[in-house]
Amino acid sequence: PKMLTDSEGRQHPEGTEHRLPKAIIIGVRKCGTRALLDFVNIHPNVVAASHEVHYFDNATNYAKGRDWYLNRMPYSYPEEITIEKSPAYFITDKVPERIYNFNSSVKLLVIFRNPVTRTISDYTQIYQKRLKQNLTTERFEHLVMDPITLEVNTKYMAVQISIYQKYLENYFRVFNRNQIHIVDGDKLISNPAMEIAKVEKFLGLERFVTPDTFYFNKTRGFHCIKKDGVERCLAEGKGRKHPNIDPFVLHKLKKFFQPHNKKLFQMIGQTFDWD
Ligand code: A3P
Repeated sequence: PKMLTDSEGRQHPEGTEHRLPKAIIIGVRKCGTRALLDFVNIHPNVVAASHEVHYFDNATNYAKGRDWYLNRMPYSYPEEITIEKSPAYFITDKVPERIYNFNSSVKLLVIFRNPVTRTISDYTQIYQKRLKQNLTTERFEHLVMDPITLEVNTKYMAVQISIYQKYLENYFRVFNRNQIHIVDGDKLISNPAMEIAKVEKFLGLERFVTPDTFYFNKTRGFHCIKKDGVERCLAEGKGRKHPNIDPFVLHKLKKFFQPHNKKLFQMIGQTFDWD
């Protein structure tokens, strides 16, 4: 196709334009949101925003309005579905209403994984980021436990975010249950083709991924994409080594999340193997 240049100097094929997302991955941070976006994006009729857009959660961005949002979207053909992911949407109060006002029939994807693992993953990311800035971080055990009561420190943000039902509730109040598809992040790791096939169905797409789309990369310890003979893994920062955690603390965390998980399972009518 003929290439055109837009007012910002970006090249795009004739017949393509920016289109607003029909589907949004709202979170949860460290549950595999990047893998989900990249793996859905394998489908020929899906185009994904390359960066986290932070339109609905960031007051400054939101104030810039719908055209700003539209401009952040990739170029697409009419039959393609545009999708973006910004995990902060999940935990930011005003976002469900804002998304609803934007498009009341938008499709939402949310990915969960074992909340204990998510908490550790969150800590590990923060720890490694701070290390790069030459900053030290307290041990996981010290942050996650209250030193006096020896109970879980519920004020710690990494713990908060793992109480999924608390945030999901805000979405369930605004959207129909059938507009929200829940992805199992642990299964996305062990069997990505199966988990992505469900997403394709939810998005009304013809099935595209097969087990042959992925191969297990032993060095990374995760599945990577094989496309047209080219192998591609997620960026380095995905699939970090987690620190060893004191078994007592792990036990405390597991117990802490159990009642919250139970509420979540009731709410979504689906259970996960988190015990
Ligand atoms: P860890 O780095 O703690 O293992 P997010 O993209 O939401 O930040 O989630 C990051 C997590 O995605 C990683 O957490 C990793 O476990 C998970 N993940 C799922 N599938 C993956 C894959 N194919 N390659 C790398 N990481 C994957």
